[in-house]
Amino acid sequence: MLESLRSLVQLKSFEWDRIERRLLRCGNIDDVRRIAKRNLPGGVFDYIDGGAEDEVSLGRNTSAFVDMKLHPNVLRDVAIVDTSTTLFGVERQTPILLAPTGFTRIANPEGELAVARAAAKYGMPYGLSTLGTRGIEELAAVAAAPLWFQVYVWKDRGVVKEMLSRAEQSGYEAIIITVDTAVLGRRERDVRRGFTLPPKIGLDTLIDGALHPRWSIDLLRNEPITFANVAGMTDIDGTTAIALSDYVNAQFDQALSWESLEWIRSATNLKVVLKGIQRVDDAQRAMSEGIDAIALSNHGGRQTDGTLAPVQLLPDVVDAVGGGIAIICDGGVRRGSDVVKACALGADAVMVGRPYLYGLGAGGERGVEWVLDHLVSGMKRTMALCGRSTVRDLTRDLVTF
Ligand SMILES: Cc1cc2nc3c(=O)[nH]c(=O)nc-3n(C[C@H](O)[C@H](O)[C@H](O)COP(=O)(O)O)c2cc1C
Repeated sequence: MLESLRSLVQLKSFEWDRIERRLLRCGNIDDVRRIAKRNLPGGVFDYIDGGAEDEVSLGRNTSAFVDMKLHPNVLRDVAIVDTSTTLFGVERQTPILLAPTGFTRIANPEGELAVARAAAKYGMPYGLSTLGTRGIEELAAVAAAPLWFQVYVWKDRGVVKEMLSRAEQSGYEAIIITVDTAVLGRRERDVRRGFTLPPKIGLDTLIDGALHPRWSIDLLRNEPITFANVAGMTDIDGTTAIALSDYVNAQFDQALSWESLEWIRSATNLKVVLKGIQRVDDAQRAMSEGIDAIALSNHGGRQTDGTLAPVQLLPDVVDAVGGGIAIICDGGVRRGSDVVKACALGADAVMVGRPYLYGLGAGGERGVEWVLDHLVSGMKRTMALCGRSTVRDLTRDLVTF
C-alpha cells in the first residue's frame, strides 16, 4: 500500500532559496508583478506600474494585444524555430529590446547593472535612460549587452553634448531621443502619494518602509540613488527629493522641434532612434529627416492619456514608411505571443519596460532573467504553434484586430 502510494506521489524537493522558490511558482508576468508589488513600498510600485491620468493609454497598450487574434497555420515544419533577426545591420538573437526606464535602482539596488547582465545573456540591446541611476561608463564596464543611450533633451545643450560624447566613447550602439516628454504626463498615483525621487521620508514613507524591511535595508546599505548621468551637471541630481514633474519641467527643452534634431545628429555618429512617434505623418517626417529608426510609443501610457496603443498604429505606419526606416513597437508587450503579433504586423523589434522592472523588483537579476526567458520561450512556442519557423515568416495574415 505504502509502496504503491510512493510510486504515485513523488515528493518535490524543497527549494531553500527564497527568490528561486517564488520565481518557480510564477506562471506569467502578472505573477512576477504581484511579487514585485509585495516586495516594494506602495509609492515605489505605483511609480513603476502607473500611467497618466485615467490610465486609458496604459490599459489600451495591453488590451490591444489581448484583443488581437492569431490565425495559425498547421502542418508546417517547425522542428527548428529561429527567433533571430537583423537590426541596424547586426544579427540579434531576438527582436526584443529593453526600453530605457528612469530611476531603476529604486526597484533593486543593483538597478541597471542587473538589467544589463540579464540582457547580455539573451543578447538583447538595453537602453540606459538619461534619468538612469548608473553611469554611462559604469554600465558599459559591466555590460556585454549592446547598449543604447536614451536622451532627454535638456535646455542646457552642453549637458546633452557631453552625454552624447560619453556614450559614443563608451561604445554605445545607438541614441534614443525621447520626443514625447515636452512636459511630464500627470501620473495621478504619484500625485496622490506625493511621490518624489528619491522618496521623501515622511510618516507614510516610514510606515511603508517598515512594512517592506528588505527593501528599506537594501536602500540604507547601498550608495545613495542619484541621477548618475547628470550628477553634478545640474543643480538637482537626484540627491534632493523632488517631484519628477518639477524636475522634468525645469530641465527639459519644451522648445524642442524637428529643427533641433539636426544639431543632435551632428553631435553624434551613433544610430538615432526617435522614441514616442504616435502618428503616420510624424513617422514620414522622421524618415525624410534620415533618422535610423522610430519607436512607436506612448511612453507606456505615462505621457498623453487616451492615445492609440502603438501596436494599433503599426499597420498604417508600416504601409507608409516600412522598409525605409526601422520600426520599433513599444508598450504593452507582456508575452512572447505579443512579440509575434507585433512582428507579424511589420515591427522590426519590440521594446519592453515594466516587465523587466517587475522582474527586478521581484527577484533582482534573476527576476529579470525569468522575465526575458518567459518572453523568448513564449515567442518560440507561439511561432511553432502558428507554423512559422523564422521571424521573416511572421506576416500580416497571421493576425487580425
Ligand atoms: C518606471 C518607468 C520609467 C520610465 N522612464 C523612461 C525614461 O527615462 N525615458 C524614456 O524614454 N522612457 C521611459 N519609460 C518608458 C519606457 O521606455 C517604455 O516606453 C515603456 O515602459 C513601454 O511600455 P511597457 O512598460 O508597457 O513595456 C519609463 C517607463 C517606466 C515604466
